[in-house]
Amino acid sequence: MCGIFAYAGSENAVPLLIEGLRSVEYRGYDSAGISVIDASGVIQTVKRGDHKASLENLAVTVGDGQLSGVVGIGHTRWATHGQVNQQNSHPHSSSNGVVSIAHNGIIENFLELKDELVDSGIEFLSETDSEVLAHLVGKSVASGSSLREAVIGAASRIKGNTAIVAVSAAEPNIVVGLRVGNAGGIVVGKNADAAVMASDTIALLPYTTEVIYLEPGEVVEIEKGAIRLFDLEGLSIEREPIITAQNFEAAQKGNHPHFMSKEIAEQPDAIQSAMRGRVDFAAGTISLPEVTLTSEQIRSIDRVILTGMGTSLHAGMFGASVIESLARIPAAAENSSELRYRNPVIGPKTLVIAVTQSGETADTLAAMEHARRAGSPQAVVLELEGSQASRIADFTLPIRAGQEIGVASTKTLIASMTTLLQLAAVLAETRGVIGTTAVRSIVESIAELPSLVATALGLIGQITALAERLSKFDDLLYLGRGAQLPIAFEGALKMKELAYIHAEGYPAGEMKHGVNALLGPNMATVVSAPQNDLYEKMLSNISEVKARGGEVAAIATEGDVMIERVADHVIYVPKCHELLQPFMTLIPMQLLAYRTALALGRDPDKPRNLAKTVTVE
Ligand code: M6R
Repeated sequence: MCGIFAYAGSENAVPLLIEGLRSVEYRGYDSAGISVIDASGVIQTVKRGDHKASLENLAVTVGDGQLSGVVGIGHTRWATHGQVNQQNSHPHSSSNGVVSIAHNGIIENFLELKDELVDSGIEFLSETDSEVLAHLVGKSVASGSSLREAVIGAASRIKGNTAIVAVSAAEPNIVVGLRVGNAGGIVVGKNADAAVMASDTIALLPYTTEVIYLEPGEVVEIEKGAIRLFDLEGLSIEREPIITAQNFEAAQKGNHPHFMSKEIAEQPDAIQSAMRGRVDFAAGTISLPEVTLTSEQIRSIDRVILTGMGTSLHAGMFGASVIESLARIPAAAENSSELRYRNPVIGPKTLVIAVTQSGETADTLAAMEHARRAGSPQAVVLELEGSQASRIADFTLPIRAGQEIGVASTKTLIASMTTLLQLAAVLAETRGVIGTTAVRSIVESIAELPSLVATALGLIGQITALAERLSKFDDLLYLGRGAQLPIAFEGALKMKELAYIHAEGYPAGEMKHGVNALLGPNMATVVSAPQNDLYEKMLSNISEVKARGGEVAAIATEGDVMIERVADHVIYVPKCHELLQPFMTLIPMQLLAYRTALALGRDPDKPRNLAKTVTVE
């Protein structure tokens, strides 16, 4: 995930920017760059697009001391739009040279804005979406706006979650930062000699332990020894700094009380990272350079088996559903501890896809070994590259969610789902089941996924009261159908592991075959029922529960008033393409479990009896 560091003070900013970027480099990057305002008031930019060597190469390039200035911005990029190279690295300058900006997030309407800017005579130097911001800000500054007004004005033109930092030759003492939605945070701090701004608290600790976190919809100006906070209307905001504990763990949590809440909030970012370099938003294409199968091999696959454990198995179930529906290949997900011992009939035409955050889960590794012996081509969808699973698989699809510390998986699930959705599209296109128009329409839909998830994250307000209510039950039932079934399973798993409430995930169509015997006032039911082909069936299932005296909480599509007539509680998620509905309904499931755990006084980061990595069977 991209990282930001900015400095305004009295020392030479250049080495400080490099150090600041080093402290956010663990987020992952493929390019790095800085802009400083030199003694003559000119913005000087140096950047590198050398993959993992970028930051070190940048440090060497500026290490000769030629470049200096007391105000500057720095950025580590993880490419989303355009190749990894120097031109596409941040910061980007406006064509009139008056401003330089760095940006985290995806600008969903960048093509439209780019066309408008090109028509007005501006020449683009990069393939990035971010460059539009540099020109929008530069034009406003040239026509007399302050840097702050210009950044706010530019942000109001773009669609999508965004974090921006900017410097202007017209106001050489300040740096402006802005946050809209969830595209990575911005935190600021100051001491008598400087003010600093970064994506992560850890980068501020050499300067101060008193920090201010920008909320979505806020803008900040920093200058030596001063921080000024505003809303997007330009009204000043007063906020006392928070004293952050001086340790890495607390700093990593930022302003979140738990790693889990931080990791839930990072999901829009995780989705973007999983799409980086794979989805070309301008061309409307999806490619997975990591896939080593030939087109002929892909066409010869006659079955796909996805395997994993716990939450990763649920990702696999989602993957099976999208692979079957998009690529029309028979696909099923199976628990690795079962797959490994049942001597399955698999061979060279069975594509096996393992899903594992850690890459070290004992049962998943054993199932993968079995597939290898059977001669099946094998992929692994994985967070921790270099782990054992990547050595067994023929190829690895990194999910790039960033380190997940909470034992309960959240952002790694959403990033695995994003990766599997892209894989399904690639398999479908290679097999000729869908054409370029259908792929373009998938790209248009998934371009909105980070903002849709960010909107769903705003549900936390609706969730708290429901969580209080659910915390009173000893038994919960979670129902879903189709692509919502893994989400129901995941909702139940999260509730069990975090709140220690007995919770069962069930296919809604299975109720009459046994589970109805449990219905009644002592068991509440959570139903995942967005509007799709199976919606009416879900309404009938809700009525079945109600008829037996059960209490129902439904997760439904925004604007669905019908469901309020049958369910006791309704949590609305944004309307979206049907393929993306599981991403929407997943968010309230995570939030519900988290909030219920808090209502019951549990520690959501360290559930009892559970480990993050299960290396024994
Ligand atoms: O590292 P893995 O993804 O292979 O781990 C598999 C499960 O242990 C894991 O998904 C577990 O179910 C979750 N942490 C629960 O939230």
